[in-house]
Amino acid sequence: MKILFIGDIFGRPGRTIVRERLKELTSEHQVDLVIANGENAAAGFGITPALAEELFELGIAVITTGNHIWDKREIIEYFQSADGNPYSPARRVLRPANYPDGMPGTGLFEGQTKNDVPYAVMNLQGRVFMTSNDDPFRKADELLKGGKAKIILVDVHAEATSEKVSMGWYLDGRVTAVLGTHTHVPTADERILPGGTAYQTDVGMTGPYDSVIGVKKELIIQRFLTNMPARFEAATGDVRLCAVVIDCDQDTGKARSIQRIMLT
Ligand SMILES: [Fe+2]
Ligand SMILES: [Fe+2]
Repeated sequence: MKILFIGDIFGRPGRTIVRERLKELTSEHQVDLVIANGENAAAGFGITPALAEELFELGIAVITTGNHIWDKREIIEYFQSADGNPYSPARRVLRPANYPDGMPGTGLFEGQTKNDVPYAVMNLQGRVFMTSNDDPFRKADELLKGGKAKIILVDVHAEATSEKVSMGWYLDGRVTAVLGTHTHVPTADERILPGGTAYQTDVGMTGPYDSVIGVKKELIIQRFLTNMPARFEAATGDVRLCAVVIDCDQDTGKARSIQRIMLT
């Protein structure tokens, strides 16, 4: 079974390259399941219900997010609209699971592929150089306890490479893949860990690379030069799609291979 995971989709440029290239990618790699991080889908800041559904229509089954999840307030109502209904499309948008109890939304999706293969997607957020949240390691343990799916993909949305590498080792043998997001810079460390978990520290951004992690570079450089607040605008140039394809055993959930992809 092949899973395609697309890194942080940033603004219209990111959404457009996904629309243009996803079909060819899924047929070339015979992909059974597509998952994407969409925390920057709305001009770099958050995601709206309409944009989430636009991504679903392109064939993305589950959207993970991260620290930008609350940037667009409509997402709160969207989460609440799911109201316990596991089939609501809103259930397919995740926020990090280790946010405090009682927050809208959820960080775990359990479903089935079109061929009835059960799978789960878990979204976690790191705590190093980020806002303090509950422990993502123990949250992962807790969520893995009652699950039935063998195929489990974890998006660990974190700043520090050490925290993401640790999560990979911590979950090795217990999940199919631990994939990092958030830094928007792809890392060249994809591998299969000894227990059969596919790992990459950061899948990289799907969006404009003529930028500072998606934002117009002049604005960010100016901020570094002056320390003055600036309004961030999404960049548009050098758009790339960053993703990984994971091949895994559908019965055991163990990964066989992980391939890093960057399309321009
Ligand atoms: Fe991001
Ligand atoms: Fe992020």
